[in-house]
Amino acid sequence: MMEKILILDFGGQYNQLIARRVREQQVYCELHPHTMPLEEIRRFDPIGIIFTGGPHSVYLPDAPRPDPGVFGLGVPILGICYGCQLLAQSLGGLVTAAGDASAREYGKTETFFDLTCALFRDLPETSVTWMSHGDYMARIPEGFRLAAHSAACPTATICDEERHFYGVQFHPEVSHTTFGREMLHNFLYTVCGAHGDWTMADYLRRSVEELRERVGDGRVLLALSGGVDSSVLAALLSEAVGSQLSCVFVDHGLLRKNEGDEVAAAFADRALDFRRVDASARFLERLRGVTEPEEKRHIIGEEFIRVFEAEAKAIGAVDYLAQGTIYPDVIESGLGQSAIIKSHHNVGGLPDYVDFKEILEPLRLLFKDEVRQLGRELGLPESLVARQPFPGPGLAIRVIGDVTAEKLSMLREADAIFREEMAKAGLDQTASQYFAVLTNLRSVGVMGDGRSYDYAVALRSVQTSDFMTADFTRLPWDLLDRVSVRIVNEVKGVNRVLYDITSKPPATVEYE
Ligand code: XMP
Repeated sequence: MMEKILILDFGGQYNQLIARRVREQQVYCELHPHTMPLEEIRRFDPIGIIFTGGPHSVYLPDAPRPDPGVFGLGVPILGICYGCQLLAQSLGGLVTAAGDASAREYGKTETFFDLTCALFRDLPETSVTWMSHGDYMARIPEGFRLAAHSAACPTATICDEERHFYGVQFHPEVSHTTFGREMLHNFLYTVCGAHGDWTMADYLRRSVEELRERVGDGRVLLALSGGVDSSVLAALLSEAVGSQLSCVFVDHGLLRKNEGDEVAAAFADRALDFRRVDASARFLERLRGVTEPEEKRHIIGEEFIRVFEAEAKAIGAVDYLAQGTIYPDVIESGLGQSAIIKSHHNVGGLPDYVDFKEILEPLRLLFKDEVRQLGRELGLPESLVARQPFPGPGLAIRVIGDVTAEKLSMLREADAIFREEMAKAGLDQTASQYFAVLTNLRSVGVMGDGRSYDYAVALRSVQTSDFMTADFTRLPWDLLDRVSVRIVNEVKGVNRVLYDITSKPPATVEYE
């Protein structure tokens, strides 16, 4: 049996991050709503429970609370921020609003630790933590002691080592807390007794067994986009049920330079039915004259389904449809609610328009970095596994305005030059995402002795961990210079190169 940590979600903004930090330490965890019934928690059988932060105040009547039985399970608990206050209040302490502004804390805070507390074992006595709270614990519950303080907050950590309950007022999951990782490590390994049995090699072995059992001798169909998730899924399914698998790779003609061939090559040696459908002509035809971004997305999404559907019918008698849903998709659709800024067309989001027996989502519990790790275990080339995110609608949303074959070709060349130079400069793995955009701005230039009136290409490179917010990459001037010179010289129809220095927000990563 695999060791599991249960993270109960109280609506904090760093909840996904907590889950990732736990998994990074080779301990499996799942994030569930705080309303999870006690019986289910028992069945989940965690070795430890983490209460997340959240925007509420524990002393208000509508404050979210777990089933009180959770305190009687004999399982260690770590409460973070709101979770810490909840722990304190539920066990007899007193939490109040920090009426005096000096007791509220936001941001980096020098904090002093009692190293006899298991959470802080082997750490320095003083370090920086990230605080973000307006409430504080005025009285700690019986059985607890104080284990950390800051100048403004005498109760930065409480612990009851007998019952293995720990509460931290700060956020160990964010990188601004200097020793946050070590504190989580101490909770997982010292307090909960984890052994670190969550590895991709094990996961691979288990998944292959499970898939074989579930699929039996049924037939599986996978829509392959060429992105990391669906490529890794294809490799996993090929390992598990290769001879019963058909992969349909819809080449919509909106891919980057050489991308279609690279995807096809990665699957060429595997014993599976790999179908590359060249649908570029029909996509271009449908997109002709369309300039509105959401309309482009809509057309591409729909067209993709039509092509896939036709291919599925041709294959016939398919029992399972496989999708590359990953854990952030599950968390986002199941737990939180965020505003839709752009309707993301994910190939994984196909409706079950054909009569499938079941949908398979073998990656639904993995984070992106784990999916990449699994891809490596499966022997996929690094060029595929480490690929930066690429939107489903592809280059259609990087050609501003109407999309034509000529514009796509210009963009493909410019983008390839940018990527090549980024790789040469060793920046391809440090920038989170980078690409070229063909704007619909034309301007006057002078080339040779002649006047030109050509397009401007915009370069975009961003740093981000979650793509919800992003900052532009501080690229070296000489790199930008090389890229600009090469693009203007090598790509006919382009006479100007711009570098985008907008963060997200207010801009988004993509232009459309
Ligand atoms: P934005 O532009 O919303 O992008 O800041 C955030 C991240 O999402 C990717 N993206 C998409 N991915 N289908 C996708 O699968 C889409 O329609 C889509 N639009 C944006 C974008 O590349 C970035 O990584």
